[in-house]
Amino acid sequence: METWDAIRARRDVRTYQDRAIATGDLDRILEAGRRAPSASNRQPWDFVLVTDRATLQELATVWTGARHLAQAAAAVVMALRQPETERYVTLDQYDLGQATMAMMLAATDLGIGSGHSAIGDQQACRRILGVPEDRLCASMLAFGYPADRPLAPIGRPDRRPFAEVVHRDRW
Ligand SMILES: Cc1cc2nc3c(=O)[nH]c(=O)nc-3n(C[C@H](O)[C@H](O)[C@H](O)COP(=O)(O)O)c2cc1C
Repeated sequence: METWDAIRARRDVRTYQDRAIATGDLDRILEAGRRAPSASNRQPWDFVLVTDRATLQELATVWTGARHLAQAAAAVVMALRQPETERYVTLDQYDLGQATMAMMLAATDLGIGSGHSAIGDQQACRRILGVPEDRLCASMLAFGYPADRPLAPIGRPDRRPFAEVVHRDRW
């Protein structure tokens, strides 16, 4: 898929076909995340890839908005190390957002749907995955082939109008 098509086709997909994702495709998605830029190139993240159904079902309980993980073919749980200073709290979240979008676009390019989830219950997430106590389970992405409709450029996205968002030369 052309980059511009992938940008326009990406959407949050929360229902999935009962179809596995090839290991090479999952690795490409993770590699897209690994290559994401980060402040001072600190790469504050670790990615836990989950394909085990029972584990996906457990992860689906760590947040009210995580239910889609139960039927996903895979999920990537993104963990952050403790920030050295207060300044990095925001920067690390910014970095994670960039890795998230890179993985979503890489998945879209392959026709694979992806869906965000926040994480509410830290202890549960750490226990399910064996994440060390000093790490934050920051965010999750579910992956799977869309059950509703294939990924294709969206003509009229649910977004604020271009002219309202974009300011030229000055506010
Ligand atoms: C930081 C962040 C957290 C999100 N958390 C959740 C979540 O917990 N559960 C969920 O179903 N969607 C979550 N979303 C997805 C958004 O609801 C979705 O991106 C937004 O409604 C726009 O829809 P679209 O991605 O299909 O264009 C999250 C998105 C972002 C950027």
